[in-house]
Amino acid sequence: MDTTKLANFYHGKTVLITGHTGFKGSWLSLVLIGMGAKVVGISLPPKTSKDIFVVTGLESQVSHHEFDIRDFEQLSTLFSAEKPDVVFHLAAQPLVRQSYLEPLETFTTNVTGTANVMEALRLSHSIGSAVIITTDKVYENREWIYGYRENDSLGGHDPYSGSKAAADIVADSYRKSFFSPEKYNETHNTLVATARAGNVIGGGDWSQNRLVPDIMRAVFEGDGIVTLRNPESTRPWEHVLESVSGYLILGMRLGEGDKGVSGNWNFGPSSEAFISVGEVTSKTLNFLDKGTMKIERDDTKHEANELVLDVTKANRLLGWYSKWSIDETLLKTAEWYRITNDDPSSALAVTNRQIEEYFYFQK
Ligand SMILES: NC(=O)c1ccc[n+]([C@@H]2O[C@H](COP(=O)([O-])OP(=O)(O)OC[C@H]3O[C@@H](n4cnc5c(N)ncnc54)[C@H](O)[C@@H]3O)[C@@H](O)[C@H]2O)c1
Repeated sequence: MDTTKLANFYHGKTVLITGHTGFKGSWLSLVLIGMGAKVVGISLPPKTSKDIFVVTGLESQVSHHEFDIRDFEQLSTLFSAEKPDVVFHLAAQPLVRQSYLEPLETFTTNVTGTANVMEALRLSHSIGSAVIITTDKVYENREWIYGYRENDSLGGHDPYSGSKAAADIVADSYRKSFFSPEKYNETHNTLVATARAGNVIGGGDWSQNRLVPDIMRAVFEGDGIVTLRNPESTRPWEHVLESVSGYLILGMRLGEGDKGVSGNWNFGPSSEAFISVGEVTSKTLNFLDKGTMKIERDDTKHEANELVLDVTKANRLLGWYSKWSIDETLLKTAEWYRITNDDPSSALAVTNRQIEEYFYFQK
């Protein structure tokens, strides 16, 4: 990854991010701000006062807009007013368990929200590039032991996975109908890609029913005991900056008019990072030097097992590779929570230091 090239591309650009108050959107915003971009954000308010968006003071560093992505009028008015060069669409209801409690809310936010973004893009005419963030859960899970490729069939057992698979299809349909690479610079000026990443971890996520936030709540706010439902469940863990770097490369290449990049992309870690929930927990507790874990099984909800991504396409055609090993990823994550727990005012400095370490320090 050529960070200088990325920074040169984004410097001075207007970048619109939906979901900028969320975990991934905040990290993406801070990386872009560091590169000299103007960030325009559309989201709901942050969920907790400990979210990375709040503790890094991000609101004062971006053009901040709070409204529902399902409000098409507001969305399209903002697109017209801001005329962004690049759009990253992350706003979503992103939690599997929540999707069982609020399936309709999940479907409307994730599917209609994505259709609204695509429609606002269509009406804008001027936006060069758009990256639509979906997930590894868009794939129909066949319980294969080998990796899923971009052209494998989509599906979704739980409402979250189904809604993101549907969002992916919405983006694909708009791409084929209105933003095809063949008609680029003839009938339209926009290239679109979807990005599918796995279980993303890193500092500042306090979402419910996610492993790392659950560990941090137990350690820093609870009795120090982390309760696991399914410790053998294996996932492809990656640091949030790995997926952010993939999104940035896509946004740049599309913005440069690289028609071959229009399409679907997986961003997942190398195979050594496919480790179990139990291993993630024990390594994290070791790095924190705090807490213990206990097992309480719950088989009543379906959660897909063992889905791993094949990232050959991103490696070969984008030159994107995951950079941090699983131990580095867990160490950086633990470090973020430990330092900011001791001194909340250090959150921006710690986040920027980790961004610096990821993007600018050569190995
Ligand atoms: N975190 C992960 O492990 C992971 C993995 C794969 C894919 N993703 C995808 O990445 C994206 C970001 O996920 P995250 O982990 O940062 O989630 P998050 O919950 O931290 O952030 C979600 C963001 O979407 C916004 N949002 C939600 N509903 C909205 C609405 N109706 N209108 C406007 N904004 C709304 C929220 O305000 C927030 O800014 C999502 O699309 C998610 O599906 C996340």
